[in-house]
Amino acid sequence: MNLLPREIPHIIVPPIKCQGIKTKLVPFIAANICWDGCGRWIEPFLGSGVVAFNVQPERALLNDSNPHIITLYQQIHQGKITPRRVSEHLTHEGGELLAKGEEHYYFIRERFNRSSDPLDFLFLNRSCFNGVMRFNRKGQFNTPFCRKPDRFRKALVTKIANQVADVTRVMHNKKWEFRVGDWRECLRDVDRADFAYLDPPYIARHADYFDAWSEQDSIDLAHVAHSLQAGYALSMWKQNKYRVNAYVDAQWGNDVQRTIKHFYHVGSTEDLRNEMEEVLIVKPSHQVLGYPISENKTLQLTMAE
Ligand SMILES: C[S@@+](CC[C@H](N)C(=O)[O-])C[C@H]1O[C@@H](n2cnc3c(N)ncnc32)[C@H](O)[C@@H]1O
Repeated sequence: MNLLPREIPHIIVPPIKCQGIKTKLVPFIAANICWDGCGRWIEPFLGSGVVAFNVQPERALLNDSNPHIITLYQQIHQGKITPRRVSEHLTHEGGELLAKGEEHYYFIRERFNRSSDPLDFLFLNRSCFNGVMRFNRKGQFNTPFCRKPDRFRKALVTKIANQVADVTRVMHNKKWEFRVGDWRECLRDVDRADFAYLDPPYIARHADYFDAWSEQDSIDLAHVAHSLQAGYALSMWKQNKYRVNAYVDAQWGNDVQRTIKHFYHVGSTEDLRNEMEEVLIVKPSHQVLGYPISENKTLQLTMAE
C-alpha cells in the first residue's frame, strides 16, 4: 500500500516556526503525491519539518542550510533534548524575561550567538519579532524582540513542550538522517525509490545568511529535479491579484500542477486580506490520478502556534 496519498486528520505542529511554513498546506500536499514509501523521504529545505512530521516516512534524509534547525531536531531525535528539558528551560528563561523585559531577550540572543545552544535557539525562535528568524552576514541571529515580556506563559510553555513530545514520538525508531548543507549536495544522494519534497525560499533581493535564493537557484533546482530518477514535488506560490510567478510554467511546464488558494492577513480587518494561489508541482509519474484537487478551498494562513 502507498504511504501517500493519505488524509491527515490531525496535523502535527512542530516546535519551530519559519517563514513559508506549510502547516496549513500539509493535508493538500499529502493528498496530491503518490509514493509507496519504500525509499527515503528527502527534504533538502527542511524548515520547520512540518511536512516530514506529518508524512512520517520510515526513512528520511532531512537537510537545511540552517545548522540551528538541524541541531535542534538531531538532539531531539537522539533524546538529548526532551520535552522536560524544554519546559524547564523556557520556564526559567521566560521567568527572567518577565522580570527583566527585553534586556533578557538580548542577553539570550548574545549568548546564543556565542554558544549556539539549541534551547536558546528555541527560545529566540518563539519570542522574536513576528516569529521571523533573520541572520546577519556573519550568521548571527539578529531579529529583535516581539515586545511581549510575558511571552512564555505556562500555557505556551506546555504547548511547546507538547510539540517537542509529538515530534519525538514521530521520530522514535525511525531512520531519519539530518544534514546541514546546500540543497545541491543533498540531491546528489538520491535513489530511484526515494521521493524529494522541495520547498525552497522565495526569490528575495535582500539575502539572509542561511536563506538566500536567486533566480539562478530557481533555474538550477528545476534542472536538477528533472534529472532525478526519483519522484519529486515542489511547493511554490503561483499567483495573486498583482503578480503571476513566471517560473512555474517556464521551469515546470511539463509537470503536473495542483493548486490551492488561501488568504493571508496583511492587517486586522477583513478587507486587508490578500488571496494567494499556491501550487504543488508533481512529477507526472507520482501524481494522484482521479483525485478531485485542484481545490478552490480558502485557507487562513497565519503563523500557527
Ligand atoms: C520555505 S522554507 C521551508 C519550509 C518548510 N517546508 C516548512 O514547512 O516549514 C525554506 C528553507 O530552506 C532553507 N534554505 C535556504 N537556502 C538553502 C540552501 N541553499 N540549501 C538548503 N537549504 C536552504 C532555509 O533555511 C529554510 O529553512
